[in-house]
Formats: sequence, structure tokens, C-alpha cells
Amino acid sequence: MMAVDLGNRTTKAVLLERRGELLALTRYALLDAPVFEKKISVDLLADHLYSVAKALGSEAKFITATAGIADSLIRQIELPQMPLDEMRHILKMNHKNYMQQDLPNYAFDCYVLPPRLDTKNPPPAREIGVAAKIKVLAAAAKQQLVDDFVQAAKIAGLTADGLVPTLLGPINAFERAMPEIFAKEAVALVDIGFHNTSVCVLDNGELATNRTISIGGDQITSSLAEEMRISYAEAEGIKVGMAPEIEPSLLMQITPLGREIRASLDFFEHQNDRPVSQVFVSGATARSEMILQMLNSEIMIECKSWNPTGFLQLALPGQQTVEMDQVGPQLAVAIGAALAVY
Ligand SMILES: Nc1ncnc2c1ncn2[C@@H]1O[C@H](COP(=O)(O)OP(=O)(O)OP(=O)(O)O)[C@@H](O)[C@H]1O
Ligand SMILES: [Mg+2]
Repeated sequence: MMAVDLGNRTTKAVLLERRGELLALTRYALLDAPVFEKKISVDLLADHLYSVAKALGSEAKFITATAGIADSLIRQIELPQMPLDEMRHILKMNHKNYMQQDLPNYAFDCYVLPPRLDTKNPPPAREIGVAAKIKVLAAAAKQQLVDDFVQAAKIAGLTADGLVPTLLGPINAFERAMPEIFAKEAVALVDIGFHNTSVCVLDNGELATNRTISIGGDQITSSLAEEMRISYAEAEGIKVGMAPEIEPSLLMQITPLGREIRASLDFFEHQNDRPVSQVFVSGATARSEMILQMLNSEIMIECKSWNPTGFLQLALPGQQTVEMDQVGPQLAVAIGAALAVY
């Protein structure tokens, strides 16, 4: 199966294969995201999906893609036990309540979260006549995007299998890559993208809070260019090259991001009276050790990049295996999207 993270800057795609109990990563591809004004056209998206399938050298027909942060959202809610169809219907009728915002022209979906044994706070004994509520992950995506993706996949000769909110990607991958930490700790997953950074706090395997900060790699480079009075391209080169002399200027750009992430963690910590133990960073920016260290000092919790491929059998072509260390953190969203339909 193919899963494609349609990033704002870079499209990340993975090809996964079931091998008995195991899941193998057989190929990945990084492509420049198509350039478009405001909304991508169906034809452009179809061309892009075609290029992705070609780059993966894939004969697979099924494709799963991500719905970006601007087009989708997720929230953990509670609902009485009922069939999935009814859940979707209730969500559609009451999205303002459940998703805490008005979402006209959105498509909704639900996923029933497996019950977790909570020894400290066992659920109250069921009262007669009162239906126990179950925990559900609710997702919403713009209906137009869903329709466009289905149509674009068809034009590209593929079959749309799933559309997964970007935010869910790192969570799904993390659950499989670090099952112990996922189940027992309070951790933050931070994905630094091109336009935005997402922060999800997971508490004992549950999504406690999620938030989007409108700072990403693009703004870091732009501000760096302004501050150093150089071009965007030069600033990008210097940022990625991590020349030691840029440290003070870079720190000025990273500090506000760190402060915003810290504020999200504070919110969780005050509400739950529990500290966040570690911060796991994904997205291409997580390749930079210097940036991770700056975030570390600002947030005052260990910030590290993580490997979303650890639980996969790696069956990549030679060169791709060599580059895996570098590329790994960038694939978290694509791998997590694949797991959503797996
Ligand atoms: N080695 C590096 N050090 C620092 N920044 C880097 C490095 N490599 C890439 N970046 C930055 O990462 C950003 C792109 O990140 P990424 O590919 O994760 O974004 P995206 O997924 O396309 O965007 P989004 O998640 O917002 O849709 C660019 O701004 C780029 O400058
Ligand atoms: Mg991204």
C-alpha cells in the first residue's frame, strides 16, 4: 500500500507491504510539493499522485493521503456504545459540541479507541440503565478535499483508500515505534512542518490536547534572511548547513517556537497535574541537532527526534537504507497515515 504525506513543502511517500505478521517498508520517496495558489486543483493533485506512484516504482493501486492541518482536525470524545454509522451521524449533527467549532461542509469519521486498563482510576461500576460511554477518536476533514482526493486518485489510475488527518500520523507511528512510552507516560509529539508546528500531548496512550502553532521551517528561514540581510535561498542553505556563526540569529527564531510549545505543555500540566516527561520531534527540521538543543533549553524537557521506522522490517533499496537515518523523522506522518488504514 502507498501512503502519501502531502506536506506544504515536501511530499513524503512510503510503500509498505504486509509480510505475514510483519509490515515491511520497501521504498520511500521525497518530492517537492506542487506549487499552487490557495487551493490545489484536482488535475494538479492527480499529476502529483501519479508522480508519487512512479517515484515509488509501485504497482500497488491503493493510496492513502493526508489532510493537512488547515483542512482537518481530530479530537478525543466520549460517546455511548452504538454502531459506527450512528456515531458518524451524531458527530455530523452535533459537530459544534463535539469538535468545539462550527464545521460546515466537513466529512466526519470515528474510530473507537480500545479500552485501556487504568488501575489507578478504575471506571465506576456501571449503573443500571445508564449506558457506559466509550472513548472515540473523532476526525473531520473538508468534504471538498475528500471528493478531490478520490477524483484525483482515479485520474491517476489509483484507488483512494483513506484520507488521514496529518495530526494523526505521528501519533499512530509513535504508538507502534515506542509502545511502552506511549502506553505509560505523558509525552508531547511535536511535528515542525513548513508553515505550522503541531503539538499533541499523549497521556497514557490517550490524546489529551492538540494544538497548532503557526511557526514552521518557512518562517524560520524568512526571519533568518531578514535578520542577516541575506536572501531566502542563502538563509535556507545556512540553516540546513548549520554554520556555527548563525547560532545567535537562529536562537532568536527558535525561542518563540519553544515558548509556544512550552505554553501548550503548561496547559496540559496544570489541567492534569502531571509533568510531560519527554518531547519527541518530527518533521524535516528535527534533522537539526542545533535546533533540538535550542528547543530543549527553552522548553526545559528533553527534546529529541525519533525513528518512526523501528517497528518495520526495512526492505529498502541499498541507497535508501543508507539515507534512512537522515530521512527517518520526516516519514512519521506518512507511516502513521498508512497505519490508519492498515
Ligand atoms: N537539516 C535541516 N535543518 C533545519 N531545517 C531543515 C533541515 N532540512 C529541512 N529543513 C526545513 O524543514 C522544512 C520542511 O519540513 P517538512 O518537509 O517536514 O515540511 P512539510 O511536511 O512539507 O510541511 P507541513 O508539515 O507544514 O505540511 C523546510 O522549511 C526546511 O527548511
Ligand atoms: Mg509535514
